[in-house]
Amino acid sequence: MTGTIGARRLAGLGTSVFSEMSRLAAQHGAVNLGQGFPDFAGPDFVKEAARAAIDADLNQYAVSHGTPRLRGAIAAEWARDRGRAVDPETEITVTSGATEALADAMLAFLDPGDEVVLFEPFYDSYPPIVRFAGGVPRPVTLRPPDWSFDPDELAAAFGPRTRLLLLNTPHNPTGKVFDRAELDLIAALCRERDVIAISDEVYDRIVFPDTGAVHVPLATLPGMWDRTLTLNSTGKTFSMTGWKIGYAVGSAALNAALRAVHQFVTFATATPFQDAMAAALETAHARGYYERLRHEYTARRDLLRDALHAAALPTLPIGGSYFLLADIAAFGFPDDVAFCRHLTAEVGVAAIPPSAFYADPARAPQLARFCFAKRPETIAAAAERLRTLAVGSAG
Ligand SMILES: Cc1ncc(COP(=O)(O)O)c(C=O)c1O
Repeated sequence: MTGTIGARRLAGLGTSVFSEMSRLAAQHGAVNLGQGFPDFAGPDFVKEAARAAIDADLNQYAVSHGTPRLRGAIAAEWARDRGRAVDPETEITVTSGATEALADAMLAFLDPGDEVVLFEPFYDSYPPIVRFAGGVPRPVTLRPPDWSFDPDELAAAFGPRTRLLLLNTPHNPTGKVFDRAELDLIAALCRERDVIAISDEVYDRIVFPDTGAVHVPLATLPGMWDRTLTLNSTGKTFSMTGWKIGYAVGSAALNAALRAVHQFVTFATATPFQDAMAAALETAHARGYYERLRHEYTARRDLLRDALHAAALPTLPIGGSYFLLADIAAFGFPDDVAFCRHLTAEVGVAAIPPSAFYADPARAPQLARFCFAKRPETIAAAAERLRTLAVGSAG
């Protein structure tokens, strides 16, 4: 074959910095605080439920939009925790992770040239998936240390072609939890400009009350139910990211459009894992699971924060998620990628350069992202190595 094999939409999509850092981490035996997934076991009661589902021969295709048991469990959570009666038959769709729901949503709602307002830094899959669907990302920049945005800049990002607003709260990579006033502003713009909101709330159970942060689902704001599709991931909530059980909740009309795509993308998601997640959601409250999750993540956050501070890496405040951003300016590297390469190869701790989350990497502040979804031993091993990081090591 001659010429470029990939379609034009792949232009500019080289190997990501995530793959580079993972490769470097493996090559140098680094403690990997880069990749955003737990290195500890998920809960036994969830694993047992998956084994039971497989043994009970729940191993064939599920109903395309999700098993009735899982949709029922999700509806019960919404009723209890968000005070909203959701119809499991028409208002919930189970997908292969929040990532599939995101892709389905872009294909379901965007026509070529439609614009998507989103906050920068953004979860790295957002702009490519918007573009695959023919859309145009319109980033609005969040500014440290509190990652606030300029309301005028947000309003100006909405134009005649704006079709979607893509929100992520709690936010990766900053750990920001959008407050009620910010959400009111976002919601008002969506209502005024007749825009659909896609709200990625995969870290909704990882919020730290000691920071004063409170997670407010965008869909629960006045007038927002009909125009908001809320995405979630049981992989984050139950520390089983490899199972890829995600879901979307919203009006029947929004779900109908999403399902029209989903049926031809994956058709259905792994049946026994759906059943296990149904069991997990059904019993999580009674087991005190969510409080325990918060408690454990608070301890891991504090361990990592102490380790970073001891290495002269001041951290920015967070309200949720399992990431900390540390200020690397004092080390004098040309950019965050150079710092993270050094940290991985020379110090033996892998982190992610947040410039990967910006449309223009030059706009990224001098920070590094560290994940604390890790065992205390992993964080302790990273702390030990971070002691060798000397200020001014860029030379
Ligand atoms: C903001 C955000 N959205 C979505 C996802 C992906 O979720 P899933 O694994 O369910 O596809 C992640 C995973 O890191 C994430 O950080």
